[in-house]
Amino acid sequence: MSGPEADLSARFGDRAPFVEVEPALPFRVYEGRGAVALVGTPARVRAWLDGWRVAEGSPFRPVVLEETEGAVLLEPIGELVDPRAALLALPRGEARARGTRRAVLASLDAEVSLPRALGRLGVPRRKVDRYLDAEVDELVETLAVGFGGCEPGGWRRADKGIVALRMDRARPDGWLALELAALGDDGDDEVSSLARLAVALRRAALLGDTEDAARLAASLVGGSPEPSRVRVWIEGPDVARGLWEADGAEVDARRARWLLQHVDGVAVAGDRIRVRVEPPVRAGRRPPRREPRAERQRRLFSRWDEGVEVDDEGLVGLTPERLALAIAARVSGVVIDGTCGVGGLTIALARTAGVSRVVAVDRSAERLAMARHNAAIYGVEDRIELVHGDAAAVVRERAADALVLDPPWGGREYDRERVALGDLGMDVAATVEAFEGRVLLKLPRSFDPTTLPAGAWTLELLLDDREIAKLLLAERAPIRDRAP
Ligand SMILES: C[S@@+](CC[C@H](N)C(=O)[O-])C[C@H]1O[C@@H](n2cnc3c(N)ncnc32)[C@H](O)[C@@H]1O
Repeated sequence: MSGPEADLSARFGDRAPFVEVEPALPFRVYEGRGAVALVGTPARVRAWLDGWRVAEGSPFRPVVLEETEGAVLLEPIGELVDPRAALLALPRGEARARGTRRAVLASLDAEVSLPRALGRLGVPRRKVDRYLDAEVDELVETLAVGFGGCEPGGWRRADKGIVALRMDRARPDGWLALELAALGDDGDDEVSSLARLAVALRRAALLGDTEDAARLAASLVGGSPEPSRVRVWIEGPDVARGLWEADGAEVDARRARWLLQHVDGVAVAGDRIRVRVEPPVRAGRRPPRREPRAERQRRLFSRWDEGVEVDDEGLVGLTPERLALAIAARVSGVVIDGTCGVGGLTIALARTAGVSRVVAVDRSAERLAMARHNAAIYGVEDRIELVHGDAAAVVRERAADALVLDPPWGGREYDRERVALGDLGMDVAATVEAFEGRVLLKLPRSFDPTTLPAGAWTLELLLDDREIAKLLLAERAPIRDRAP
């Protein structure tokens, strides 16, 4: 014997052994010698006890034999064959369920948000709403008084009916306390269906057991249930390999939906990523990306609040700090940042241990001044030499180990389907051809690599913090060693 049974035997030794009758979250029922033990959270056990106290006048008030934290021992009601039989032996009354299905279900439901739960089961939201908003006016049989505050969730009767109970609220007028107990045929009865649905959803929420709930929800609402686990394949250019799940990986339907919304169809490196999901799940609409401004600013520069300065063009092209540091980690020695802007990459380079000095070039004097100011916020201004001018000219004049270029892509509205070398806002080919050291090009993810300047380039797709394909990094190894 182990678990709650052992625990109950230790607490209520003279009633042992205890045998679990049927797992029925959120509480569990055990049968002991001449007693029924209910096990729940201490708070729930307290609620039951309070409820029974309020139900003073009820002839069916359970007799509490003993109570402890998280368990209570009751005198069996009726003949102790099965606590469920005792429960069902209680007299029934009648109640009318009125209103919309939403209202009826809401009265059954405490821990489950029905629209959300139905939505999560893969039932289309529109159908869920239509179903929930429909009118219900049904006479249902109810159990008049309860087991007092306990919450069986649902019991299947031997004679095919379903009983769904909710009795966890103590009322001053006693335990006439079934808020909605529906007792009906297993067939079409509307309220019975609602009760079954509520029970199934509760089970889904509490036990994570969604299969029944999905089937029932689909049959009622008219959707088709989605599997909870699926397999995914992510196909597309080599550069997208290994960044998300491996081929055939098993994932939650929710993750598959995310991949369909954020990865599938994205144009990358002159190709397109395709996410295949089996069995298929509905992707739904891509949720709008609403990143609060302050959050975005701190993603760009973690020390934004200390007075970072940017202009519009500088802001559009700014490399988010985490990506900038990841890019900077690939170079060392003296590095020319040919397109400094307001300093996103320049500052990351200056903060990188292997980088001894940064020559930061921009043809905009205003942005260079902002970069100087921003570098001072990070305390790295001494490691940066700012040069106002054209990148290609500076590259020809200066010796360096690496060149980083982040050319303008065409502003906020850059082409997310295909960008070619000629679309970039500077002469990249002329600049890199003049340089023999390592070159890193920061390019839009939609850049077509067949248009890269001559040379042996390797490509890498970088993801942002949210795992969304953000940019392509093209790297060219040094043509021959040059001393700085
Ligand atoms: C995308 S922004 C650079 C953003 C920067 N890497 C960052 O992370 O903050 C491009 C910058 O290149 C500069 N630029 C464009 N053509 C240039 C050229 N031929 N030489 C130097 N700078 C140039 C623009 O003035 C602009 O500031």
